[in-house]
Amino acid sequence: MVEISAEPTQSGSSARPGSERADAAHRSLPKATARDVSVFYGEKQALFGVNLDIPDRNVMAFIGPSGCGKTTFLRCFNRMNDTITGARVTGEVKIQGKNIYDPGVDPVQVRARVGMVFQKPNPFPKSIFENVAYGPRIHGLAKSKADLEEIVVNSLNRAGLFEEVKDRLDSEGTSLSGGQQQRLCIARAIAVSPEVILMDEPCSALDPIATAKVEELIDELHENYCIVIVTHNMQQAARVSQRTAFFHLGYLVEEDATDHIFTNPRQRRTQDYITGRFG
Ligand SMILES: Nc1ncnc2c1ncn2[C@@H]1O[C@H](COP(=O)(O)OP(=O)(O)OP(=O)(O)O)[C@@H](O)[C@H]1O
Ligand SMILES: [Mg+2]
Repeated sequence: MVEISAEPTQSGSSARPGSERADAAHRSLPKATARDVSVFYGEKQALFGVNLDIPDRNVMAFIGPSGCGKTTFLRCFNRMNDTITGARVTGEVKIQGKNIYDPGVDPVQVRARVGMVFQKPNPFPKSIFENVAYGPRIHGLAKSKADLEEIVVNSLNRAGLFEEVKDRLDSEGTSLSGGQQQRLCIARAIAVSPEVILMDEPCSALDPIATAKVEELIDELHENYCIVIVTHNMQQAARVSQRTAFFHLGYLVEEDATDHIFTNPRQRRTQDYITGRFG
């Protein structure tokens, strides 16, 4: 295990104008860190010794060809790999300075601090209200019914969905359109005030209008949250993220301010990927 220091890792030049914000975010203490993280599925190694600092109040995009380990790595940050038979994680993952793989750490508590939004919207088979109220209720975040209602309304508002659903909070979450369901899942994720939000291709099942709404929402949320988004859409990565990490064949190839990655990457493999030569 490698001890984490308060010093962020060195990466890239900070001379390029326009990336000051991304670089400033990166210089502050990271919200989440990975040190020498490897993941195995049975005998097969899917991720190789990844080191990465993820800043707070920032969107980081994970990009790379299919099968390179983006989802596998994302799942390390909320111990979702624990739920996969035969999966094994080595190395150290810290959220806010605490190793989430320490013995005694409850994975359920980790998942309350680190929310996840999946590729396919997956509302619970419950009402719109209950979808959002569920997390705060089981984690005891509301003192009264009025408290709970306030959390639900606030979360739906912040997810940009409240106006569209305010007259039918008792309808099934699954009765919403795909784009609305995804925003409901985001409302559900933020209702427990997580420290980190992981999004695995959250727009891949959405049309361009719903995609634009979710991107707008991500942009708003990043003022207060640490967000990681996996995307196959290079334009989306460029639009929503301040920093980008490029993965290939289970290795983190490079991580830098997004505009560096898309205009002047240091690694040939990154250049080849973003220009569409493979993947
Ligand atoms: N549950 C699992 N059991 C066994 N192997 C797995 C499992 N999940 C992923 N893998 C393997 O780990 C490697 C990385 O997969 P992962 O899903 O992390 O890639 P990805 O970058 O998210 O790909 P995509 O862009 O297609 O979603 C692949 O070789 C994949 O076959
Ligand atoms: Mg994936």
